[in-house]
Amino acid sequence: MTIQHMRKTYTMGGLSEQDVDSDPMVQFQTWFHEANQPDLPDWFEVNAMTLSTTDAAGRVSSRVVLLKGLDVSGKLMFFTNYQSDKAKQIEANPHVSLCFFWPHLERQVRLNGQAKKTSRQQSQEYFHNRPRESQIGAHASGQSAVIASREILDNGFHEIESQFAGTDVACPEHWGGYEIEPERIEFWQGRTGRLHDRICYRQIAEGWEIVRLAP
Ligand SMILES: Cc1cc2nc3c(=O)[nH]c(=O)nc-3n(C[C@H](O)[C@H](O)[C@H](O)COP(=O)(O)O)c2cc1C
Repeated sequence: MTIQHMRKTYTMGGLSEQDVDSDPMVQFQTWFHEANQPDLPDWFEVNAMTLSTTDAAGRVSSRVVLLKGLDVSGKLMFFTNYQSDKAKQIEANPHVSLCFFWPHLERQVRLNGQAKKTSRQQSQEYFHNRPRESQIGAHASGQSAVIASREILDNGFHEIESQFAGTDVACPEHWGGYEIEPERIEFWQGRTGRLHDRICYRQIAEGWEIVRLAP
């Protein structure tokens, strides 16, 4: 089949203004839990989201990161290296975009908001819950820097491994979380004839305004 001929018809459901919660993050939690079905294949990561950031000149970069928490006020959290390209871009412009695609439900959720670093305590707490291998990896990888070979990475890993032998791996200063407070959230449900449902929440002075967007 050629790329041109790849096409799916979306028939699983619909979404109306009446169906959704008045609080977008309650709605997000509902959709997240619906997406997180127990019988999903192992390789599928429901919490994977595309994060887009821009540099000071407005050039955009996108990459996948993992959602690692939703706090009570509805902020979305992910963890990374504070010296990475994405961190430098967030420093230049904290406005970011997130996008989840849940193909098994024919759904997409898009969010816009500002990213802020999580507290050092939150970063440390999460870091110490990660597998030891990932903790060592966080020390060994200068994320987004150019490196001469794979060998350099593997040797760095073994060096850090011996450095921390027999002790807990400390959370590096350059590693931690970001939390994003959404200002706009759109819920997209695929429909037939490309007449998809798009219900969008926009932050206004009194709270959230809910609008329908043309597909
Ligand atoms: C499924 C998946 C999950 C990922 N999760 C993370 C993550 O949670 N944090 C992270 O820093 N990078 C994660 N990455 C790697 C990023 O996509 C990216 O390669 C890396 O963060 C460097 O991005 P940057 O150079 O734009 O900063 C993930 C990649 C994939 C494919």
